[in-house]
Amino acid sequence: MNGNFEYCNPTKLYFGRNALDNLSKELSGYGKNVLLVYGGGSIKKNGIYDRVVKILSECGKNVTEDAGVMPNPTVNKLAEGIERARNSNADLILAVGGGSVCDYAKAVSVSVNCSEDPWEKYFIRFEEPDCKIIPVGCILTMVGTGSEMNGGSVITNHEQKLKIGHVFGEEVFPKFSILDPEFTFTIPKYQMISGIYDIMSHILEQYFSGDDDNTSDYISEGLLRSLIHSAGIAVKDPSDYEARSNIMWTATWALNTLIAKGKTTDWEVHMLGQAVAAHTDATHGMTLAAVSLPYYKHILPYGLKKFRRYAVNVWGISEEGKSDEKIALEGLEAMEKWMRDIGLVMNISALGVTPEMIEGITKSTLIMTGGYKTLTEDEITEILKNSL
Ligand code: NZQ
Ligand code: ZN
Repeated sequence: MNGNFEYCNPTKLYFGRNALDNLSKELSGYGKNVLLVYGGGSIKKNGIYDRVVKILSECGKNVTEDAGVMPNPTVNKLAEGIERARNSNADLILAVGGGSVCDYAKAVSVSVNCSEDPWEKYFIRFEEPDCKIIPVGCILTMVGTGSEMNGGSVITNHEQKLKIGHVFGEEVFPKFSILDPEFTFTIPKYQMISGIYDIMSHILEQYFSGDDDNTSDYISEGLLRSLIHSAGIAVKDPSDYEARSNIMWTATWALNTLIAKGKTTDWEVHMLGQAVAAHTDATHGMTLAAVSLPYYKHILPYGLKKFRRYAVNVWGISEEGKSDEKIALEGLEAMEKWMRDIGLVMNISALGVTPEMIEGITKSTLIMTGGYKTLTEDEITEILKNSL
């Protein structure tokens, strides 16, 4: 295993049926003022809101609500949240929702006491917080991003046509997260499938880097096999607890920093997907699915050894009498079949991209250097065209 690293994950997790019973215990560790952050109202329909508010009230908290966090939360909404957190003197930000709500809560947490423009500081200059951070707790209702156990926060600026993620340090990770797989049963199927591919992409974008024999890669292969297996079941029966709970747990481990250890990591698929979203506001996991295969076919010659290993260890492709390239390509074919079977969006036209938009999307795509090939702008354009 090459590379030196530190490993610490400070988020406390409560997982499983009735995990919400642990909320009051956690709340006792914080002051009276709670900023309750949630999205467009799904938690009111499925009853999670009522259950959370009841516990907050029993614990004697002063609750200020910050509702309406949209998928792909915006810099304008962030400004609103900062105001609310300041005015209410928030001691704890309680995020109840998916990755968008959790990411937004983290962005508010580092901005409340920040004297500079948070978009410029954190998302353009990528600086670390140097102010007091408000603690965040999370009650997860949508699976995929891993935001429940990491420092990631992705914010969209529509005026600047940029969607940018800042991966903050451990001080910004949620202090606790509550993960009840049953809370995810009401997610619309499109969102569930999108989340499944988000998980897949997180694992792959860490796996497809480096050539050393690395424990992280073996863990990744196990997570991928579990995900592929459970996804097939969940798509047929979204109320299958066993499958949904495995997907939830896999999502957390896919992006809680563990499998990145000792790896340079790639992340170019996310940069392409985020650029597509900056121009279309499309659903996160679908933007990744729509660009992945053209990207992987493009970089396959540069990372042939790993693509061959992926085909054999994850997709069970037989090796006998075949060239390395043939084995690797058969792995991508198996992946494509699985993607189509579970119902993913396979091209960016279906997300609203037209050929005239390619130039702008290319300009919005950040170029990463940790994968098998550092792309040029022309290569980004070519991959986007192949994704149409
Ligand atoms: O807003 P409500 O009404 O709650 O509806 C949401 C939303 O429309 C709905 N939903 C969530 N839980 C539900 C539910 N509907 C019914 N029942 C439930 N239990 O699902 C929709 C999507 O929610 P959202 O939070 O946007 O989804 P997701 O968890 O995929 O989060 C996406 C955001 O996270 C960022 C993405 O870029 C995107 O902005 N990411 C964050 C990462 C991180 N923190 O590390 C990494 C990821 O790569 C990703 O970039
Ligand atoms: Zn993602």
